[in-house]
Amino acid sequence: MFNKILRPLTDFVRHILSKPDERGNLTSDLFRFKIRAKVRELINNCNGFLLDIGCGEGLLYENLTTEQNSRRCIGVDTENEMLKIAQNSFEKKKQDRFRFLKADAQHLPFLDKTIDAAICINTFYNFHAKSDVVDALEEMERVCKRDGFIIFDIRNRINPFVFLRFKFVWIYDTHVTLNAYSLKELTTVLTSRGLVIKETIPIGFPITMFAPIILVKAGYR
Ligand SMILES: C[S@@+](CC[C@H](N)C(=O)[O-])C[C@H]1O[C@@H](n2cnc3c(N)ncnc32)[C@H](O)[C@@H]1O
Repeated sequence: MFNKILRPLTDFVRHILSKPDERGNLTSDLFRFKIRAKVRELINNCNGFLLDIGCGEGLLYENLTTEQNSRRCIGVDTENEMLKIAQNSFEKKKQDRFRFLKADAQHLPFLDKTIDAAICINTFYNFHAKSDVVDALEEMERVCKRDGFIIFDIRNRINPFVFLRFKFVWIYDTHVTLNAYSLKELTTVLTSRGLVIKETIPIGFPITMFAPIILVKAGYR
């Protein structure tokens, strides 16, 4: 009954509210567009190797300028279908500075300290367990250069709406895994690897601690 009535209804509402950039598969919230826009601001002056983990259709790299600099953009994802869409979209634009390949966030196929910005957005909350998030963060730290940075977002479980929506996701969507985290619990993972938080950006509410989403930029001291 939920799948027959509620799911089409929520998909329809999301479809109406979605921005053009949200043309991909609709999943579980409406903030992804905002997050990608903020991340583009953060990486706008970053040259070198950018890595988007869980890149999906490659939407983060859209509207990112590459002409004037030596930026190389790599996207990895576990889904062939997503990678094909991303690859086709950038091939059409004849932008060969963008590469997409199949890889797992928990086992990145890159050497230590080779990436200038390792990014993973709109993805942690779909991982099945916290250990997957921890493994991904450790991999991001491993590949990140000492003067580079990592960027990720969390769906903040301190926010009561996120907490309730994720807890009761089984009512309106039986297909998806949703996990929220607190900033504190993931900060411990970062500090254990020598990283510090450089910037936190609240999305959806102006006070970071209570925002539904917190975007985090971390780097070495
Ligand atoms: C909600 S989409 C977000 C896509 C993109 N980051 C964005 O903001 O538009 C999550 C993506 O993560 C990918 N994914 C899930 N688990 C993954 C893993 N362990 N390693 C790499 N990608 C993964 C999925 O295939 C999916 O394309």
